[in-house]
Parts: sequence; C-alpha cells; structure tokens
Amino acid sequence: MHTLRTLQLKTFPCLHVAIGLTMIGLNFVSSACVASAQTMAPAVVKVDPASGTVFRLDGGDATYAFGVNQRGELQQIYWGGKVAAGDPIPAATVGIEWASFDSSYNNTPQEYASWGAGLFQEAALKVTFADGNRDLVLHYVSSTKPDAHSIEVKLKDISRAVTVTLHYKIDPETGILARSATIENGEPKPILLEQAAAASYTLPPAHYTLNYLTGRWAGEWTLNSEAIHGGERVIESRRGTTGHQANPWFAIGRGDADEEHGETWFGALAWSGSWRIVIEQDQLDKVRVTGGYNPFDFGYQLKPGEKLDTPIFYAGYSDHGFGGASRLLARFTLAQVLPRAPNPKPRPVIYNSWEATEMNVTEAGQEALAEKAAALGIDRFVMDDGWFGQRKTDHAGLGDWYVNKEKFPNGLKPLIDKVHSLGMDFGLWVEPEMVNPDSDLYRKHPDWVLNFPGRPRNEERTQLVLNLARPDVRAYVFGFLDKLLSENQIAFLKWDYNRNWSEPGWDQVPVEEQKEVYVKFIQNLYSILAELRAKHPGIEIESCSGGGGRVDLGILHYTDEVWPSDNTDPLDRLTQQDGFTRAYPTQVMLSWVTDSPHWMNNRATSLTYRLLVSMEGALGIGANLNKWTDEDSATAKRLIAAYHQVQKTVVQGDLYRLISPTNGSEFTATEMVSPDRSQAVLFTYVHATQEGRGFPNLELLGLDPDATYTLTSIEGKTLPGTPAAASGAWWMRHGIDVNLRGDFQAAAFRFDRK
Ligand code: DGJ
Repeated sequence: MHTLRTLQLKTFPCLHVAIGLTMIGLNFVSSACVASAQTMAPAVVKVDPASGTVFRLDGGDATYAFGVNQRGELQQIYWGGKVAAGDPIPAATVGIEWASFDSSYNNTPQEYASWGAGLFQEAALKVTFADGNRDLVLHYVSSTKPDAHSIEVKLKDISRAVTVTLHYKIDPETGILARSATIENGEPKPILLEQAAAASYTLPPAHYTLNYLTGRWAGEWTLNSEAIHGGERVIESRRGTTGHQANPWFAIGRGDADEEHGETWFGALAWSGSWRIVIEQDQLDKVRVTGGYNPFDFGYQLKPGEKLDTPIFYAGYSDHGFGGASRLLARFTLAQVLPRAPNPKPRPVIYNSWEATEMNVTEAGQEALAEKAAALGIDRFVMDDGWFGQRKTDHAGLGDWYVNKEKFPNGLKPLIDKVHSLGMDFGLWVEPEMVNPDSDLYRKHPDWVLNFPGRPRNEERTQLVLNLARPDVRAYVFGFLDKLLSENQIAFLKWDYNRNWSEPGWDQVPVEEQKEVYVKFIQNLYSILAELRAKHPGIEIESCSGGGGRVDLGILHYTDEVWPSDNTDPLDRLTQQDGFTRAYPTQVMLSWVTDSPHWMNNRATSLTYRLLVSMEGALGIGANLNKWTDEDSATAKRLIAAYHQVQKTVVQGDLYRLISPTNGSEFTATEMVSPDRSQAVLFTYVHATQEGRGFPNLELLGLDPDATYTLTSIEGKTLPGTPAAASGAWWMRHGIDVNLRGDFQAAAFRFDRK
C-alpha cells in the first residue's frame, strides 16, 4: 500500500511541479519553486511520493486514481465518490489469470490498452508497423505535471519507438476529467494507426443501467435506457460527422440509481467526425467505456517523427443520479467548454425567417418580417437559406457565396441597415462545407468534392461534400467567410451542414494517407472556426446540421449555440429537450416558436403553450409573423419580456426533471434553480388530461429551505389557495398544485427569494 502524504518532490522541473499533497491547499514543491507555489490554487492532482507511480486526481465530489502495475502497464485503481485526503490508495496490481482462455491482460483495467500481448478486450490503440508486425505493448515511462489540475503520463512500446502521452485534467469544481492521448512515431519508418481512442474508463463489477441518445432527422434526442449485459454496446457515427442517429454521450447508473439518487458515471466525446463509444462488460463483469475516433474505415499514417492527437473524452461521476450527472455536465460545459466560457452571456432572442419564407427571401420580404420581429422585443434577426448564388431551390447555388442580385439588388447592406435601425443585430445562414453540382464552384473545381474517381457521386439534397481536408478547400472556405464578415456587419452565423458523407475518397494524396480525411476534415473545420473567431472577435456562431446532426462538445468549443432539431412541434420538443438536456446545457439549446398547426404533425397548440416550451432554452421565434394577429403579437411581446426576467436562471441554473415526458407521460414538469438559489423557474405541461386525473403535486428541489420565496405566475395562471410567499422548505415539502387540465395546456411560475 502506498499512502499519499505530504512530501517534497524533486523529480520534476520547476514549471511542472505544483504537487499539492493535501486537499486543503497546502502545496509542497521543490525548493526552487516555493515562491510561485504560494500563489497557486489548491492542487488536485497528487503523485504518490514513495513510488512515483500511483496518481490521484480529486475534483468536485469525485476521486480518480490510477497507477503502474508490476508488469509496467498503466491501470485504473479507483473512480467514484471522493475519498478522504489521507486514505491509502493501493498500488495497481495486474488482473487475475482466470483461465488459459482469459489471461490477465483481459482482466487488467488498463488506462489505454494497446492491441498486443493477448488482449481481446476493446483496444484503445492498434497499429501496423512497416515490417508487418502488429504487436504493440505499452508500458509506463514517466509523468509530468503541467499544472495543479493536470498530469501527463508517457507510455512506450516495450521495444519499438512508439510513444503515447496520456493527458489528464480534472476540473476542481465538478470533478469532470478531460482525457486524451497523443500518439507519436519515433520509428525510422511510417506506422499505420488502425484504431485510436481518446481514453478508456472502467467501472467495478455491479448491475448497471446505460442511458444513451439516438434519433433520426426531425426525431433527435430519444433517451434509451437499458441494463448492461455481457458483451459490447456500441454507439457510434460512421457518417463523417456527429450524426442525428446517435450522440456521443452516455450515462451509467449503478443498481437502482434514478433521476435524483444513486451513483452515476457519465461522459461525452468532443469530436464532430466519425466517432465511437464502446460500453463493454467483460467476462468478470467489469464495465469499460472506450471512446474516440471510429475505427471503421479508419487509417492514419504517422511518418517518422509525426504525432496524432485524439479528441478529448470527458467523463464524470455524480452520486445524485442521472439528474445530478446532467447538472454537472451542464455546469462544466458553461464554465470550461463554450467559446465564451466561463461566463457566456445568455443568448439573444432571435427571429429566424426559414419557416416563414424558406428560400424565397427578398429585401422587401425580410424587411417586413424584421419590422414585425422588432416590435416583439427580438434582439437578433437571422436571414436563413436562399440569399446567395443562383439559390431558388435546393438544386443550385451552394458554394457560390455572392449575394443574389435579383433578390438583393444592392447587396445585403440595405437589409442589415434596416435591421440595425430597428434595434436588432443581424445574423446570416451559411453552409460552407457543401456544394451543389449546379454551381460555379463545382463547375470550376469538380475535384474538390469527396469521391472515388470513376464511381458515382451520391447526391443528398442535390449536394456534395467539399473535401475540407484539402488545404485549397480550407483556404476557399475561410476566405469567403472572412470576406463576408469583413464586408458586412454580421453578428451571427448559422452554420448549416445538410448531409452525411458518402464515397469519402481523397485521391489526390497517396493511398496510405487517403483515410486521414476523417481526421483532417474536422481539424480544418475547427481551425477555420477558431481563426474566424480570432479575426472577428464579436462573431457568434450556431452549429446546425439539418437540425441536431452536429451537436457535441467538440463543436461546442467553437460555437455558441446549436439547433437541436428541424422538428419544432412543441410536444415533440418537450421530449427532445428532455433528451438534449441530459448531455448539453439549456444555454445552447435554441428553440423556435413556429406556426400552428405544425407542418410536420399537423398538431394545433396555443401560442402560449409554444412560447413556454421554447422558453425552456434559448428562445427564438421562427413563425410567419405576417400571419400573426395583434393578439398573437401582444402575447409574444409579453412573454419575451417575462423570459428576460428569468432567462439567466433557465439557461445557466441547475435543471431538475420533476416529471419527464419520456415513456408516454401525459405530464411534464421542469424546474431550474439559479446557482445562488435566489430564483427558481417551474415549467409545467399537460398533454391530454384523461379520466379526470389531476396534475401531480410538485415538490420543488434545490431551494434554500430557510429562505422565503414569492410565487409569480409567468403567463398569468392564478392558483387560488396557494400562498403568495412561503419558505423554500414549504415549496420543497408541501409543494405546489398547478391545477392544469385539458389538452396541451402549459403554465410557468417564478419563485424569487425575498
Ligand atoms: C436545415 C436547417 O436545420 C433549417 O433550419 C434551415 O436552415 C434549412 N437547413 C435551410 O436549408
């Protein structure tokens, strides 16, 4: 046993040493660094001073420990609720040899298992060497500590010069780990990576329930919940992009963990290309979660001296059930991931013209809508698809990013000036990675699209995917966006992406490099977004992909909000929002109010119902305002003003699913509480009252029991017999009867601390 104790460390250079050896912030460092150490934040990463090979990371309510076993492999020792600062962390020991069929290699929870030495479990890394050898066995070499919250651990093959550096960073507030790997070829010849994960995480043997999200176009964010059994459950995208069909997020509850109780482990992969997360229960019932690049059709060549960085696979732990897990992840995303973290402003309320005009945009038509939008108190006017090239339908124009002179004879300036004069800022739709064959760009550069020469090019929505991995395509895309932003006062881009890949060939590079398109395309996408943001610091960006096809923590590092779905039917949105908020914060969840009956489900709902559903996230209006009555406009204006009074709580507070709309529930109730507990907001909906069943009494969560909170109805519903003010304890124990009955009824309430 090794005890993590206070001890002076001398093994690392000054810059890398800030090892805190107690949880109360007492840092012991090499003598040369004492002065700077005094100003450092409490350390949360500790290295066992006796062995130097047991590592402990503490953050939030979690502890994660790993170490080097007798064979030299790096393996997880513990991951769960925080243990005491002085608790002994046992040394890593190799797993048992269960039988000749189940060697210890398969029973050792390696942090980053390479394929070789008899491994049958999911490998993090698989390579082929130039001489055909495919055996890779990674052993510990050294560790460094870049700061108090991070550690880097170097592994190397037992005989060949392939190294892997594992990066660990723990967030002191939430305990969420950011893990990734850098793989480097020090061999004299190229090696081929066939599988490269970011990280593996291991859970001890127990009964578990896995939650994950799947869907389809206009039907994203379906929550699936199932028991974990022996074997693998794979969630993935092979589409070159994140995908509507599965989202790179998971949550695993132990035993009878539920929404608010029990141990829950969760994670999300920050990658917007083909990805894979494997949840694997092994022969001795341990559960391993491995995530990273999708190995399907993967091949990345590393020439001598070259490196590959994997995406980050974030993971965390909560002992407050699935709800606690989603609250931690939301808080972390706001504070650490978003481009304006740690203090992103709540989103402006936008108007978007898509459902009103589709591609029939004109200067006069957009200006008329802008006037009506401004009168509602909208902050931002966004013109959607149709303003460029020869774009009349989806058959032409993509790739030609000049303003269509028939629709906007004097360019965009008159419309932008008009929008500004109405007190709003201006946003514009683009789809930069796509091209229609009927476009000047394609006629000039037919070789710029993903394809296998001599084979058909499969068109979806009459468009092809530009190969953004090519430096010239990257330069073109950055160039036109930079010009657009430099020449026009554009505050916001809605960045769309309306198909998945097919025939992903890249024949202009040597055969052995062609599959690198899966990595280089996304790297270039991210670098364009980063460069645009650096050059135009005010710009805000939405990630859209025919709805929610590109929502992940990778794209959210560069974009301020996402479009969760093209389905804006409010009842469907309630279940979608329930799924979405498991993985992502309401801050980024754009939600438009559109027309009724809804174009997809033909369901008629009141404007108030639609507004309250959309007010659960970043509120937008996407209806055809030309059809609105004065009464509609007055309702929207009143509720937009009410939204501003609670928006910060709604999009940056803690979210509690008091009643989830999943599993066909006829009721939904969502509560958000501001971080300082000074305000709570309660949204309630009944879909169809049946057999007179009343709305369940709602006991609130997360309030200060000793404080007094006043009750205010947001849309005007009165609740006779309910006190106008009561203690947090009253609202949480006695609760509130919102008395909702009928079809598609909604009510919302504010609770303000006196
Ligand atoms: C798909 C998006 O999800 C819609 O909101 C709209 O922008 C269309 N594309 C435009 O083509």
